[in-house]
Amino acid sequence: MKRQCLSFLFVGVVLGALLTTAAFVGILRARSAHEGASLVLKLAHVQDRSHPVHAAMVFMAQRVAGLSSGTVEIQIFPNGQLGSESECIEQIQRGALAITKTSAAAMEGFVPGMAVFSLPYLFRDNEHYWQVLSGPIGRDLLKAGESVGIHGLCYYDAGSRSFYTIAKPVLDPSDLRGLKIRVMQSRIAMDMITTMGGAPTPIPFGEIYTALQQGMVDGAENNPPSFLASRHYEVAKYFSLDEHSRVPDVVIFSRAIWTRLSPQAQAWISQAAEESVAFQRQLWQEKTQEALDTLAKTGVTIARPQTAGFTLATAPLLESLEGTPIATMAKRIKATK
Ligand code: GCU
Repeated sequence: MKRQCLSFLFVGVVLGALLTTAAFVGILRARSAHEGASLVLKLAHVQDRSHPVHAAMVFMAQRVAGLSSGTVEIQIFPNGQLGSESECIEQIQRGALAITKTSAAAMEGFVPGMAVFSLPYLFRDNEHYWQVLSGPIGRDLLKAGESVGIHGLCYYDAGSRSFYTIAKPVLDPSDLRGLKIRVMQSRIAMDMITTMGGAPTPIPFGEIYTALQQGMVDGAENNPPSFLASRHYEVAKYFSLDEHSRVPDVVIFSRAIWTRLSPQAQAWISQAAEESVAFQRQLWQEKTQEALDTLAKTGVTIARPQTAGFTLATAPLLESLEGTPIATMAKRIKATK
């Protein structure tokens, strides 16, 4: 009995020592950038390598490597290899993942104010969208994650979202009646579909293809580059450009890891992120047009419905939010010149 207790004690001591060493190495690695040694940061996202947002992150990783003379490395894990967007955000909070790129819609559960971006027809045009994102509203929302372990780095253009469906195009909101439409994990996105008469079905991005194929949903909605890169067009042949929302992408960093970095490493990462924004905005414009051309060539029917009917059909959603912080923020956004 005594022997058994002693061996348990021994195992406990060894395990404890191992764990302490592992934690210490983690901190050392994080601090080591300051001293010129290597620091490896994992970045995960759900898009394919062929997606323009992936190219922007590769650009950011190259800039970090260049600025730090190779002492800081960003390793990118695309295609949801490390989990869905919500799972990646949770890993960010725990310090298990350094960086992720997610839709602002997936952030809604962590930074409630981000919900505003999922409202239909919020922005007048691309210029208004960027004016808001780079102005006080966008900056404050990026900072709002600090209290929940999320350090916001920057926004990326995610264009405008439109419906794609299997059986028929969506030319008018009434075409959505009775259709099951996949949406992101966002209350506002779900309410928007319900307001238009459809049945919203939240599903992680990586599971949409199978959901479409197996008829679990009748359609989904996204921007042209994502519709193309995900190959959802192989199953859903109608793309109706109603452009109901412009939900930006957000690049976020784990606060738990960020606070352990040297000020120099923080500066390199912030600079690289900022430079990747300009690169991504430019690339986004080109790739959106290119995606539409490719989709048309692959046999997708692209419709350009009048948006007035959709604006009218979604108006009750905004009215139902009257008096809430989201409605107040939406008014500020609409008033932004
Ligand atoms: C966009 C967005 C992604 C998101 C996806 C979705 O493509 O950029 O971050 O995952 O929409 O519909 O889930």
